[in-house]
Amino acid sequence: MTISGNFVDGYVQTKVGLLDRRIFIDPEIYAKELEQVFGRAWLFVGHETQVPKPNDFMANYMAEDPVLVTRDAKGKLHTFLNMCRHRGNRICRADHGNAPSFMCTYHGWTFSTDGKLVGVPGYKEAYFEELDRSQWGLVEASCDTYKGFIFANWDRQAPSLPNYLSNKKSEIDFMAERPTGEAEVIGGVHRWVMGHNWKFAADNFGSDGYHHPITHGSIRNATVDGKLYNRSVAERLEFRDPLDNMPAGPLRNYYKAHAEFLKKRMGGSLDGQNQILGSVFTVFPNVSFNCSRYAVRVWHPRGPDKTEVWAYCLVDKSAPQDVKNAMRNHITQTFGPSGNLEQDDASNWIQSTQTAKGFISPKYVQNLQLGLNHEEDASVNETGQRGLYHRWAKLMDAPSWSAIPDWDQIVTSPSSSVRKTHVTVRQVSN
Ligand code: FES
Ligand code: FE
Repeated sequence: MTISGNFVDGYVQTKVGLLDRRIFIDPEIYAKELEQVFGRAWLFVGHETQVPKPNDFMANYMAEDPVLVTRDAKGKLHTFLNMCRHRGNRICRADHGNAPSFMCTYHGWTFSTDGKLVGVPGYKEAYFEELDRSQWGLVEASCDTYKGFIFANWDRQAPSLPNYLSNKKSEIDFMAERPTGEAEVIGGVHRWVMGHNWKFAADNFGSDGYHHPITHGSIRNATVDGKLYNRSVAERLEFRDPLDNMPAGPLRNYYKAHAEFLKKRMGGSLDGQNQILGSVFTVFPNVSFNCSRYAVRVWHPRGPDKTEVWAYCLVDKSAPQDVKNAMRNHITQTFGPSGNLEQDDASNWIQSTQTAKGFISPKYVQNLQLGLNHEEDASVNETGQRGLYHRWAKLMDAPSWSAIPDWDQIVTSPSSSVRKTHVTVRQVSN
């Protein structure tokens, strides 16, 4: 297929809540989004606690491009393309570690943790000192942090990170500020590949409160203490004390002991809050945060119908070890390759992507009209998803960032999990 027409009000019609299904499957659209979206947006590349010391490094990806996040000898953070400037070999194959320099395994060009080319075999005898080493350092992206979360961007014209994050900063605060101090990433990164377009995951975590009682129906019929119920759809969403939803033991006790902090952080009241730990949300385009389980996941695109998930486990840095262990267990039991909630979600995203591969099915648009024009009144809506796709379409059309002066004004709603109203699903009958 050849791309025809605009994305705003063409492929993506957020004013009427319609999406062309080809945005999830077409190779040309995918190639364009690598350039226009992932080549220009701020992308999450890790957490500062993963590279605490000078010369620490970790490998990651910005979309399909491998990158290396380093803390140089002076303590400054960098994000480089993980690619030797000689013939393009990957300069570092380790996931993480500490090293003052990286020597390419092909011909031995060597780069320091601040990206400089510091070693070239044959520099005198074969290059005759004519190679300008200052021009052949590692390719560097802009790099900035917000409350410990590291983001990088290839486009020097992009808005600053604080402007780009806009109203998501206050949601990230819930992830970063814990009862006993800061958060830290523990363990390695869970990684796995799934057969769906990355946007399904990003939009689901962005604000799909609609799917909970159905997709996660089986888990909502169970309790953390192992009892099983046969709840109606409405009952599955009934407000319960969120701390009672925590596994009994160190984790529940820890949060109960810090209930005052959590209450204050929520603005003073817990009434009607079904997630006092914070919300589930996506920072455009592809990093999602689940504050109720302190899980972070990145949806790395791997082609139009494949996503490589990278899942991080964040715990309270100063919490007792048994609480940290309970937090890690809670994350991996619910989200991650074996997580009971994760598998519910992925199954639907895979089917929703794969059905778009046919000849007939892409001719039919997707419906994204939940709560449209009733944003204030609808008990659950798809406002956040409409915002995400509107941002995506804007970047797909825009020749440069200067064509999107209203980036931070694009309407998105808080995810359903922080809505102060009691969440019910009137639209669905059991
Ligand atoms: Fe790295 Fe030749 S490709 S030194
Ligand atoms: Fe889900």
